[in-house]
Amino acid sequence: MTLDRVIVFASLVFLTVTAGVLNAQPQGETCAVCHAALGVEHLTKPVELYKADIHAAKGFGCVACHGGDATQMGLEAMDRAKGYIGKPTPTQVIEVCGRCHSDARFMRQYNPSLRIDQVAEYYTSVHGRRLKELKDPKVATCASCHIPHSIRPPSDARSSVYPLRVADTCGSCHANAEYMGPYKIPTDQLAKYKKSVHWNIMTSKGDLSAPTCNDCHGNHGAAPPGISWVGNVCGQCHPINAELFNKSRHGQLFVQMGIPGCATCHSNHEILETSDAMLGVGDKAICGNCHTPQDTGGKTAVAMRETIERLRTDYEAAHATLARAENAGMEVSQPLFELNGAKTALVKARASIHGFNLDSVNAEVKPGLDSVSTQRIGGFSSGHSRFGRWTGPENTPDGKKAVRGAMRRFKAFKTFKKFNSLGIRLSAL
Ligand code: HEC
Ligand code: HEC
Ligand code: HEC
Ligand code: HEC
Ligand code: HEC
Ligand code: HEC
Ligand code: HEC
Ligand code: HEC
Ligand code: HEC
Repeated sequence: MTLDRVIVFASLVFLTVTAGVLNAQPQGETCAVCHAALGVEHLTKPVELYKADIHAAKGFGCVACHGGDATQMGLEAMDRAKGYIGKPTPTQVIEVCGRCHSDARFMRQYNPSLRIDQVAEYYTSVHGRRLKELKDPKVATCASCHIPHSIRPPSDARSSVYPLRVADTCGSCHANAEYMGPYKIPTDQLAKYKKSVHWNIMTSKGDLSAPTCNDCHGNHGAAPPGISWVGNVCGQCHPINAELFNKSRHGQLFVQMGIPGCATCHSNHEILETSDAMLGVGDKAICGNCHTPQDTGGKTAVAMRETIERLRTDYEAAHATLARAENAGMEVSQPLFELNGAKTALVKARASIHGFNLDSVNAEVKPGLDSVSTQRIGGFSSGHSRFGRWTGPENTPDGKKAVRGAMRRFKAFKTFKKFNSLGIRLSAL
């Protein structure tokens, strides 16, 4: 439909409206009634969508944002003299939304816990600064992230700012190479983020505590509150790594070198699951990016890898042994439980590398190795008999004696239950 025809049609709607349609909806605004009947998608759709908008739910009509006079049934409803603004410009959007959302007294009537700093924060962001200073119309405004007529609280799974949907909302511009063409920044953030461990955990495990774009960049401001720079944001959720790193030699050096902390080794958007292979100077090792096998850093990196791998292989071997014993019908819950000590040590040792100090890594590894060797003594090997045979001490005279004693006692037991208690008792050897 051309504009003229739309207007003619609108006059017809006007007649129908006066003829009584409006009487059926005494509280209805003329805006919605006329627009619903216009048959032009961009004029009609807002009415349809708006029914599920939080503002509709709170009792606001079209005039709340667009102004005008909703008691007028004709086109004069859209009278600029009565505050009608039509489709708001980017700057008008901030004013319109801010009129309510920056008004503490007004908002308190509805929801006292809702923040009222969105506009203030927005003007600290690159988006807001570019809008204010350069009148750049392509930056995000309130209406780019909160899709008008479909605005919902962030907790609503259909909201454009629900954690699982934020990345695509930001990506609608940032991953659009054509749209972002005039700017000198990459457009790969969305694609990279979707390969990250954070996105993976969010989508496959439903763990919404993993970060998406706004957790690192702030909802409205340049960076989340309390964070002076996006590069420091990781420590909000990974405090142990951050504390160790900040105190380390690297922590000071990287600042001097002007390179980011965590992102130097982990990247910022494509953060992948870590592994011990990242340590050292070998193929996949990141330390080798800056260190040679000969320098102190490189040697330390190799030694860290060795000590952690030793704990890992010992732990895995002990675990596999117990698993086999369990498969053979043995009761291994106690030794398995005790082996958790080694697993915890492994987790702590991997975090402790962020101090970049071999002694502190070894200090975490040691109790793990101790825990594994205890399990060795009490554990089972895959063995040849159905019930396994003792490993570890069997090669010493004392151990052989213990094993023989154990087997004797074992034969005396008839049931698995009793065997179970034997397993536990022997694990204390
Ligand atoms: C009698 C029918 C009618 C009524 C009543 C009406 N409109 Fe419209 N509206 C139209 C038509 C036709 C257009 C498209 C032509 C134009 O832009 O003037 C339009 C366009 C608009 C636009 C888009 C303007 C743009 O720049 O793209 C907005 C926003 C709008 N109306 C809001 C309102 C609001 C708010 C009210 C109530 C206060 C209202 N309308 C009442 C018929 C109506
Ligand atoms: C919470 C604020 C808000 C409310 C309430 C609201 N709108 Fe809008 N509307 C906007 C914003 C912001 C835009 C501009 C969107 C943009 O720039 O993409 C807009 C755009 C429009 C447009 C232009 C669409 C286009 O693509 O050209 C129309 C038509 C419109 N609104 C009609 C309505 C009608 C009818 C109602 C009531 C049923 C309504 N709006 C209620 C904020 C609102
Ligand atoms: C007429 C006042 C008014 C205007 C204009 C307005 N809002 Fe609201 N908005 C509210 C009220 C009131 C609520 C409900 C708060 C509540 O009960 O949680 C709300 C809720 C919201 C929510 C959900 C908040 C939550 O977590 O519950 C968002 C998001 C939102 N508005 C964004 C916007 C945007 C974006 C604009 C501009 C396009 C805008 N609002 C314009 C008054 C307004
Ligand atoms: C770059 C995208 C973006 C822009 C621009 C933006 N918002 Fe938001 N907004 C978000 C995200 C993401 C959340 C969800 C935060 C969360 O998960 O708690 C949010 C949450 C909100 C909420 C809920 C309360 C809160 O603060 O968490 C309100 C209200 C709101 N925004 C209003 C606005 C207003 C008003 C503007 C314009 C001044 C605006 N937003 C601009 C992305 C944006
Ligand atoms: C409407 C399009 C649009 C949307 C949606 C949008 N942005 Fe932007 N953003 C831009 C434009 C345009 C720039 C300016 C580019 C520049 O900085 O030169 C920008 C700049 C940025 C910058 C600064 C980049 C730099 O270093 O200069 C960050 C960070 C950013 N946006 C993050 C986000 C996040 C996070 C979201 C979602 C919560 C988002 N943006 C949503 C258009 C958008
Ligand atoms: C885990 C935290 C984190 C997440 C999640 C994240 N970013 Fe970033 N982002 C960063 C860091 C750190 C930088 C680098 C900041 C700097 O150098 O100033 C950055 C830089 C940027 C930049 C500047 C240009 C560039 O690529 O260097 C843009 C734009 C941006 N991010 C957008 C996004 C968008 C869009 C998303 C979601 C799809 C997102 N970011 C998710 C941490 C994050
Ligand atoms: C909003 C919280 C949050 C922020 C911010 C955050 N992360 Fe994460 N991160 C998580 C969660 C949750 C996981 C998954 C659980 C886990 O492994 O701790 C995770 C996992 C990781 C992993 C994988 C760990 C592994 O076991 O392999 C790395 C590496 C990582 N994050 C690095 C970073 C870096 C670097 C930054 C900053 C650029 C960052 N994270 C920002 C919450 C966050
Ligand atoms: C010099 C490189 C380097 C820097 C800088 C660095 N990491 Fe790591 N990070 C590693 C390596 C290597 C591993 C893997 C260790 C392993 O699995 O043996 C790792 C593992 C991790 C893990 C998984 C292990 C765990 O603790 O859960 C997280 C999470 C992590 N880093 C977060 C961070 C954060 C946050 C920062 C910034 C405060 C940071 N890293 C800085 C190299 C680095
Ligand atoms: C971005 C470059 C970079 C990366 C990646 C890096 N380092 Fe370093 N590291 C340095 C620099 C520069 C020094 C200071 C060298 C000096 O003082 O001679 C240093 C020093 C060290 C030191 C102290 C050496 C001394 O002389 O006391 C250790 C230990 C160390 N690094 C371990 C590691 C480990 C382990 C990794 C991998 C997880 C790693 N580094 C990754 C740049 C890096």
